Amino acid sequence: MVTMLDVSGVGHRYGTGAGANLAIDELSFKVEAGELACIVGPSGCGKSTLLRAISGLLTPSSGEVRLHGDLVQGVPSDLAVVFQDYSRSLFPWLSVRANVEFPLRSRGLSKAQRHERADEVLEWVGLSGAARKYPWQLSGGMQQRVSIARALACRPALLLMDEPFASVDAQTRFELEDLLLRVRRQFDSTVLLVTHDIDESIYLADRVFVLSKSPASIVADIPVDLGSERDQITTRESDTFVHLRSEVARLLQMRSPETVSTADGRTAAADRAAADRWAEAERAESRETARN
Ligand SMILES: Nc1ncnc2c1ncn2[C@@H]1O[C@H](COP(=O)(O)OP(=O)(O)OP(=O)(O)O)[C@@H](O)[C@H]1O
Ligand SMILES: [Mg+2]
Repeated sequence: MVTMLDVSGVGHRYGTGAGANLAIDELSFKVEAGELACIVGPSGCGKSTLLRAISGLLTPSSGEVRLHGDLVQGVPSDLAVVFQDYSRSLFPWLSVRANVEFPLRSRGLSKAQRHERADEVLEWVGLSGAARKYPWQLSGGMQQRVSIARALACRPALLLMDEPFASVDAQTRFELEDLLLRVRRQFDSTVLLVTHDIDESIYLADRVFVLSKSPASIVADIPVDLGSERDQITTRESDTFVHLRSEVARLLQMRSPETVSTADGRTAAADRAAADRWAEAERAESRETARN
């Protein structure tokens, strides 16, 4: 396998002196080419800080990031990011097609090539009919499809996604998750997606990295053996899925990495029971949403 992303000892501290805030702490992991990896972690643990460091938008206080072997210093041209807040990431004065074409302008494509590329990715996200519309004429889910199309149009070596489906309703979220699974196969993309949603991380990923509370460190690297064909109802009901979601929920419930290192059957009974109750409640809610 070829390593696409190599994050080595990355830490970041905001501010200096007494007011300094250590957001992420010595994170190391790799994402292989063609893999879809999810990072799941509690709110405020440092997920966006990590993605900003990977994308070159922020220079980490320590460690280094390599994309296909090249040291990341500034935003690489073959990397694309999709953010949660689609309403602020699209240009309201440009049509859908012009939004998708926009980043291609700096990549030396002719007008005809830009057009062709935009039409192709818009078809892939099911928005061929909306190419002449403006973002504000579209629903939230459709706007996020435009953001995904724009990212894919650049044929990025790595697609980074920061809670990309957190601002849409549950049904749209499922549709967008399935869309992502389809397009990553079509474009053979390497994807690193950050979420705080356990189910989403397992449903989408080949591997899930579980982060601790702030300052974030990696407490587990879990392979997801669910195959490539996934379905919102049957996959989420499968034994493998149910087992994995309990495992991730348990890891996220841990109060510190030290507690986790003694896990695996030796977790405090109260923690385990609480995690199981939480996992069961989330599972029931997901089933309900998938059926509606
Ligand atoms: N620009 C900044 N300046 C100072 N501190 C920051 C800055 N951005 C983030 N932080 C702090 O770093 C920590 C991690 O924030 P970050 O946004 O990376 O977490 P997150 O996991 O993405 O949160 P969320 O789940 O809310 O998206 C938090 O304590 C936050 O207050
Ligand atoms: Mg964030």
